[in-house]
Amino acid sequence: MTRSDAARCAELESQLFAGDDPWPPAAFLHGLSGKHNHYVAAREDGKLIGYAGISRLGRIPPFEYEVHTIGVDPTHQGRGIGRRLLEELLRFAKGGEVFLEVRTDNEAAINLYQSVGFATVGVRKRYYKVSGADAYTMKRDPA
Ligand SMILES: CC(C)(COP(=O)(O)OP(=O)(O)OC[C@H]1O[C@@H](n2cnc3c(N)ncnc32)[C@H](O)[C@@H]1OP(=O)(O)O)[C@@H](O)C(=O)NCCC(=O)NCCS
Repeated sequence: MTRSDAARCAELESQLFAGDDPWPPAAFLHGLSGKHNHYVAAREDGKLIGYAGISRLGRIPPFEYEVHTIGVDPTHQGRGIGRRLLEELLRFAKGGEVFLEVRTDNEAAINLYQSVGFATVGVRKRYYKVSGADAYTMKRDPA
């Protein structure tokens, strides 16, 4: 992902997370500028159709990682793009412990995360401030 993708990512966010505080362009720019972050884009015919970002936490190994965001254009979902993006984030994590939050009613994302080894480790009540929806914290153990 490059800085010029921020506006398109924010456009997709507003479709994908309409009731849940979608990230504005500035949030993507901030994510991209993080030294220990890894943000990736999926494109078709030059158009951005998916995005994902992860952060490495801590200064001393073994590092923990946190998935920030992942989204696929609704018209391109169900074609393996989300899985490819997530695999790219996990490659960056190099077998380290990875955490993420996901809405408890987000069946598609939960299935995807479970399929690559994430398990639910807790519930965060009203984690999503605007909708008040709960989140699961999911964790992928170190390889
Ligand atoms: C979650 C998301 C990124 C998945 O991307 P995608 O490109 O549609 O997913 P893929 O085609 O790569 O599918 C990967 C796996 O996800 C799960 N999955 C995807 N769509 C699903 C659906 N509609 N119902 C149930 N499981 C689904 C399946 O486990 C699937 O594996 P399979 O094809 O072997 O069955 C996409 O649905 C999305 O952008 N959702 C809105 C944003 C979002 O919720 N992001 C996650 C926030 S935590």
